[in-house]
Amino acid sequence: MRIGILTSGGDCPGLNAVIRGAVLKGTEINGQEFVGFKDGWRGVVNGDVIPLERSDVRGIAKQGGTILGTSRTNPFEGNGGPERIQETLDRLGIDAIMAIGGEGTLAAAKRLTDAGLRIVGVPKTVDNDLDATDYTFGFDTAVEIATEAMDRLRTTGDSHSRCMVAEVMGRHVGWIALHSGMAAGAHAILIPEQKTSMAQVAEWVQSAADRGRAPLVVVAEGFTPDHADDPHSERGLDAFGRPRLGGIGERLAPMIEDLTGIETRATTLGHIQRGGVPTAYDRVLATRLGMAASDIVQDGSWGHTLKRIYGERDLLVAECMRRQVWHDLDPAALAAIACALVYEPRREEPEGYERNLPRGAFRIALEKTQELWAQIDDIQVDHKLPGSTPVATGLSGAMHRWARGGSLDDVLTDADMAAGDFVRWSKQTIDLLDQLQGTPDARLAVTARAAIDAVRRGIVAYSSVA
Ligand code: F6P
Repeated sequence: MRIGILTSGGDCPGLNAVIRGAVLKGTEINGQEFVGFKDGWRGVVNGDVIPLERSDVRGIAKQGGTILGTSRTNPFEGNGGPERIQETLDRLGIDAIMAIGGEGTLAAAKRLTDAGLRIVGVPKTVDNDLDATDYTFGFDTAVEIATEAMDRLRTTGDSHSRCMVAEVMGRHVGWIALHSGMAAGAHAILIPEQKTSMAQVAEWVQSAADRGRAPLVVVAEGFTPDHADDPHSERGLDAFGRPRLGGIGERLAPMIEDLTGIETRATTLGHIQRGGVPTAYDRVLATRLGMAASDIVQDGSWGHTLKRIYGERDLLVAECMRRQVWHDLDPAALAAIACALVYEPRREEPEGYERNLPRGAFRIALEKTQELWAQIDDIQVDHKLPGSTPVATGLSGAMHRWARGGSLDDVLTDADMAAGDFVRWSKQTIDLLDQLQGTPDARLAVTARAAIDAVRRGIVAYSSVA
């Protein structure tokens, strides 16, 4: 099979490691051949390819940027569109595309796959804002760079007793701001997910100054102060119609100075966050994604975007789906089952806790799930593999209650658990339900979607606990 790899959208440390991982696994194990499309979708639309053999990827995992070049070309515009792209692929003898990109790229890849093209997606972005995965490569490097820059801003801020405002990237999410701001010990971290008044920002700044500190304010480019309707944008729209963000730091600095009387300077870190060598974490994540992408092309799983590295219960999940064990459940019962598959109790469950478990279809599905678990466990033990952890229903009663609209107080009493822990398990339950959404069993997919909505409410929707 001949595969064309493209990197599209903003570049991101780790792109070269994905290319290398895919080419090594593909050529050495899967018998695949590769070419690279130049400059993202532009290369696909124009049929502009370069050779990509094993020798071409030698030593590139540590290089920033992308050896293929990138662009923000929309493949549906100009000479693009599914039919013309398919003609170009046929002419070049390319069987499939591996598209490494962020939100815009993957959305375009999905549209093209729906139109019949053979594409797999690999998620990338420094912003860490993709649903498909917990961490995207590039994010760790960006946080590292931003943190180092803030450490530097703090020493100059301290020397002058100034307030320093550091603006970081992230588009509509605050991950880079939150992580780098926490690491650097910022006094205020302003993120798009949380509107904040200038009076509040000034109060935080003033309180740091009153304690003899030079205040550090970290602001994500997508932050919207509560006197504004939209994030600050002064450079129009990109090729996918999204506003180009940036510049909020420079806007905030004079306002902070006016409100507090403290001399304030702003620094926009900008593209420095995306440049240079990837961290070891990003190289490893990117390499693994590249290798896995070669495998899913081999399996012909078109339209799939690689997701997180699966946990040990995935075999059980896959079996339950194959045998339609959860087919008849309602959303709350499915949430309760999903919870049993992710939950790991830290203590013995109290005697008789099973009485709180839902009845009816849930019990039948649970029994079948437990039977399958026992079968898989026997096979593992027969093959001298460590057995897998049993299904744990200790939180399922509470999750069921929550998914049916129960109050947080009641649910926490049922679960005998702190709110933060409940939120954490709920998010893991949602992650699993999210994977179930992709099942070919249409009915289960719909139930999974409804179950996600039922669990993602109240404190679970608003908390930033990860
Ligand atoms: O999506 C990655 C990102 O770096 C965003 O954080 C930022 O808003 C945008 O790309 C910048 O895009 P460009 O490189 O086109 O200026």
